[in-house]
Amino acid sequence: MAQKKILLTGGLGYIGSHIIASMEDPSLVVIADNCSNCDIEQIDRLKQLVALERHQVYLVDCTDLNAFEVIFKENEIDTVIHLAGLKAVGESVAKPIEYYTNNLNATLNVLTLCDRYHVNRLIFSSSATVYGPQVSPMNESMTLLKTTNPYAETKAISERMIEDYCVVHPEMAATSLRYFNPVGAHPSGIIGEFPKGIPNNLLPYVQQVASGKRPWLNVFGNDYETSDGTPIRDYIHVLDLASAHLCVLKSPQAGYRIYNVGTGVGTSVLGLVHAFEDANQLTIKTKITDRRSGDVAESTADVSKIKKELGWVSHYTIQDICKDAWNFEQKHSK
Ligand code: UD1
Repeated sequence: MAQKKILLTGGLGYIGSHIIASMEDPSLVVIADNCSNCDIEQIDRLKQLVALERHQVYLVDCTDLNAFEVIFKENEIDTVIHLAGLKAVGESVAKPIEYYTNNLNATLNVLTLCDRYHVNRLIFSSSATVYGPQVSPMNESMTLLKTTNPYAETKAISERMIEDYCVVHPEMAATSLRYFNPVGAHPSGIIGEFPKGIPNNLLPYVQQVASGKRPWLNVFGNDYETSDGTPIRDYIHVLDLASAHLCVLKSPQAGYRIYNVGTGVGTSVLGLVHAFEDANQLTIKTKITDRRSGDVAESTADVSKIKKELGWVSHYTIQDICKDAWNFEQKHSK
């Protein structure tokens, strides 16, 4: 009998590659990626870390049902970890149709093929952004407020589609993981986040200021109601995030579940900048500018549910995050 495989859509990306690098047996992995936000060399980088074969990677777009289906025909897929999707908040405001078309069709196709090929395990890459502007710490039983951008809405709708699918497929074990702010890199420095163009997110931007690629960091507002006036986020090391997926894989349970994945600890923008300076013994030039539209003052996770039900907790500190991010940047900034 053919070996049962775990399909990662978007498996060559930032989060997918760290999940694969954390797996006990990467030979069980099949990857679907259209490389829209990564490059093909990512396969070689992963090969430096784990025993991955080229034939495990399918360069397909999950929104192309026929091309995507080939993977299910050629492999006995047991589990899907659905990570593929467009993910830039600002871009989603400018290109809503692209975001809805891409992200929703990808999730629909995943569900269609799970149904067709009797795949009963699914982990969906969701985001804390589905909560909308709520009071932190946010917990999974909160009613979701109106989301603030199309990217967030695609995550909220995808969650709902999966939940509805589970109603008519009681054998399905599906989990949405609501990521807070994934950051950092593999300690080897081989993989990490490779932003295309100007980074949107804070830590990749800080890394590029440190390497001299950018002259300073614009701090988007210091007049929030927080301890130092800058917004607070729950930054989680990407390897902790990866371990949360592995934890879910080990505890399949029929039905639909939702878990926050964060640390439960908030860090302000300036707090993260100072942690980066301290951890790496360097200085980051900053300039205070206007607020970025759509930003909330605080977004931190209540992580008690995932701890209680799965025994998962984060291990990496902000110092580890900053060291690994800088190590990665130094290896890749030329
Ligand atoms: C956002 C999304 C999140 C998504 C993530 C990845 C929301 C509420 N959150 O997170 O769902 O997964 O992007 O795309 O939509 N900052 C600066 N200067 C910079 C960059 C950022 O001051 O150059 C500040 C921001 O104002 C914010 C903090 O740093 O307060 C973190 O920003 P960022 O890394 O972009 O993540 P979020 O906006 O929290």
